[in-house]
Amino acid sequence: MAGYKCVILLLCLTFTTAQAAKGKTWALLAASANGWGNYGMQADVYHAYQVIKKGGIPDEQIIVMAYDDIAQNSLNPFKGKVFHSYDMMDVYKGVNIDYSGKSVTKEIFLAALRGDKEGVKNLTGREGKVIDSGPNDNIFVYISDHGGPGIVCWLDGNDLTAKELNKTITTMHQNKRYKHMVLYIDTCNAGSMFKNILPNDIGVYAVTATTATEPAFSVECNSQYFSDLSWTCLGGLFSINWVYETESDERTSATLEQQFKEAKIACEKFSVPKQYGNHSIARLAQSKFFGDSALKPKLRRRLRRSTKNMQAIPKHMQAYYLLQNRLVGLPNGSPEHETVAKDITRYETLMDQVDSFMEAIPYTIDASFQTNENVEWRKRNFGDIDWKCYEPVIESVKTKCPGIWYNEEAKYYALSQFGILINLCNEVPVEKLRAAITCAADINPLCKL
Ligand SMILES: *[C@@H]1O[C@H](CO)[C@@H](O)[C@H](O)[C@H]1NC(C)=O
Ligand SMILES: *[C@@H]1O[C@H](CO)[C@@H](O)[C@H](O)[C@H]1NC(C)=O
Ligand SMILES: *[C@@H]1O[C@H](CO)[C@@H](O)[C@H](O)[C@H]1NC(C)=O
Repeated sequence: MAGYKCVILLLCLTFTTAQAAKGKTWALLAASANGWGNYGMQADVYHAYQVIKKGGIPDEQIIVMAYDDIAQNSLNPFKGKVFHSYDMMDVYKGVNIDYSGKSVTKEIFLAALRGDKEGVKNLTGREGKVIDSGPNDNIFVYISDHGGPGIVCWLDGNDLTAKELNKTITTMHQNKRYKHMVLYIDTCNAGSMFKNILPNDIGVYAVTATTATEPAFSVECNSQYFSDLSWTCLGGLFSINWVYETESDERTSATLEQQFKEAKIACEKFSVPKQYGNHSIARLAQSKFFGDSALKPKLRRRLRRSTKNMQAIPKHMQAYYLLQNRLVGLPNGSPEHETVAKDITRYETLMDQVDSFMEAIPYTIDASFQTNENVEWRKRNFGDIDWKCYEPVIESVKTKCPGIWYNEEAKYYALSQFGILINLCNEVPVEKLRAAITCAADINPLCKL
């Protein structure tokens, strides 16, 4: 009897070791932005979920974070459904959202990523799914959102910095929480989350929708083709491309590198996707991160699509361009036309005020910064971030000018100019810069909440 038990135990042990050696695939998919105008970012994540789920990765290993206010939104003409393009394929059906509404925060995102069950429980007051991974596992992390230099935005204004993300990944590497980790980020300035930050020797490979200094784009925003879904965009340019590609690729043979090349071609004219970290990981098959597809070749061809003739709009000014789109088609002199035109004027005033705030900062420090070209150049041209300066400077903007930081429309537009602050960090002492932010905030009506 004792011998019999022993054999069973041995068999079990061998089996578990083999399982562990093969490794599991985990995915963390997140979009924090809410509201009808940000439809596409949640759609990106829902569709990514569908593709990975279809790839055979079980729900226990996929974590989805999304506000979840789109399917049932009062503006949704297709109640209960979410589309990722005009093909009208419902990507919401069956999606398993683990963290929604107020639980969509940076703290919970990082706790779930590092597998911190207790941390999640402390933050949410309940047990929550985390990436419970080991040294042979692969992890895929995907974010579609708004962002700025060195920042991915979260709804509550407590944003994720490149430094924090780097720290979490490094700790996970030290704790042997993964074999390979792949991150895809679709936000403005996404490259700045990794450029000259992510080491190439910790088993991580990252792809971003755009460079460190440029905006990312949203697509499928053309109400002309689909009036029922007007006034919003159905996805990110980079995101739509990689998700549809993955859906149609033979994932056991296609590599991440191939996907990157396709994405580059598809984004051409608008943004330049970038690769960071250990590029050798890009030679691995997609199936290691997205599961294995079992699509028939015919269906594969049908799903292959072109983004060539799309209207693409920069995410940091998305709400503004959507209003412009909306104005087209409204009869001149109609009450609707008047309302939207007024909204556009209001928006333009807002952007002017953001410009004055951002430009007042260098001007307060030194009048020689005032020439326009100088400031314009600084917005889009910046090098490595000095975090010892940039972190307290972000904190200053947040506390001295909450009217911009906690106003979605103003914030995304302001972030696109944070290159000014990164440049100033390399030129003047941090205290001088913080004092200048206080001055600029004092004279700007938008800064008051
Ligand atoms: C969770 O909360 C308890 C009680 O406040 C605390 O002792 C513990 O350190 C917290 N754990 C984490 C991981 O935050
Ligand atoms: C990123 O992490 C690496 C260690 O993995 C560290 O050497 C580097 O200083 C970090 N960079 C930043 C900007 O925090
Ligand atoms: C990059 O990843 C490949 C594949 O896992 C590995 O063989 C190589 O050692 C890694 N390079 C570095 C510098 O860690």
